[in-house]
Amino acid sequence: MIPAATDPAELAAWYAEMGVTEALDETPHDHFTEPAAAQPAPRRLPPRTETPAAARALPAAVAAPDEAAQSARALAQQATTLDELKAALAGFEGCALKATAKNLVFADGNPEGRVMLVGEAPGADEDRLGLPFVGRSGQLLDLMLAAIGLNRQEHVYIANLLPWRPPGNRTPTPQEVAICLPFIQRQIELADPDILVCVGKPSAMGLLGVTGIMATRGRWMEYDTGKRRVPAMPILHPAYLLRKPLDKRLTWRDLRALKAALDKLG
Ligand code: URA
Repeated sequence: MIPAATDPAELAAWYAEMGVTEALDETPHDHFTEPAAAQPAPRRLPPRTETPAAARALPAAVAAPDEAAQSARALAQQATTLDELKAALAGFEGCALKATAKNLVFADGNPEGRVMLVGEAPGADEDRLGLPFVGRSGQLLDLMLAAIGLNRQEHVYIANLLPWRPPGNRTPTPQEVAICLPFIQRQIELADPDILVCVGKPSAMGLLGVTGIMATRGRWMEYDTGKRRVPAMPILHPAYLLRKPLDKRLTWRDLRALKAALDKLG
C-alpha cells in the first residue's frame, strides 16, 4: 500500500523499494545507450515490417529454457578461472534478463576470501554500478559483516544467484534461476570458499534446496562445490531486515555462529 505519509523522502524510499527507480518525463529515453550517445533525434515509427528493437534483443533461448540451461552448463564448465567465467557470462545470450539489464553484475570482494556470500539478484544500484550489494541492503550487509570483523576487501567474496537485474526488482522466475544456476555453481567451485552463506530465500532455495528461509536460517548445512563439501548457512536478506528491523537479532545470532565456525576452522 502507498504510504499515507507526505514526507517526500519517505515516499521516494517506498518507490525505490517497490522497484520504481527511474523518473519519467514526457520525452522517451533509451536508458541503454551511453549518455553521450543519447541524441534528441526526431522519432519516427518503424515501418510495420521491422522487428521492434526490444523483440530483436530477446534471445531465442527465451523460448527454450532447457537448451539455454544446457548451454550455460557447457560454457560454465569450460571456464577454468573466474575471469574466464565472467567472460563466458558476458557472452551468454540464453537469459532474457541480459536484454533489460544495464550491466553484468559478476562479483565483488576478495575471491581468495574464506567466506563466499551469494545473494539473489542485482537491484537498481547494483545494475547501474555493475557490483553486487552496493545499495541500501548492501550497506547493511557491510555493517553486519563488520560486526563480526569481516570486510569485502579481505575476507569475503560476494556474488548473486542471478547476474542480471530482473526488471523492477521482481522475483526471478524458476526458468531464469535454472538457466543461470550453472554459472553461480561454477563460480562457487572456482572461488572454493571454506564457508558458503546464502543470503535470502531464493539463494538458499537455488543452492541448498531448502523450501523456506525462516525455518532454515542459521542452520548449518553442506554444500558440494564439486571439489569438496563445505559448510553452508542461509541467512535473512538485508532487504528484509530493513523492513523488519526486529529480526536483526536473529541474524546477529547467525553471524555469531558464522564467526565461531570461522574461528574453529582456524
Ligand atoms: N540484493 C541482492 O540479493 N543482491 C544484490 O546484489 C543487491 C541486493
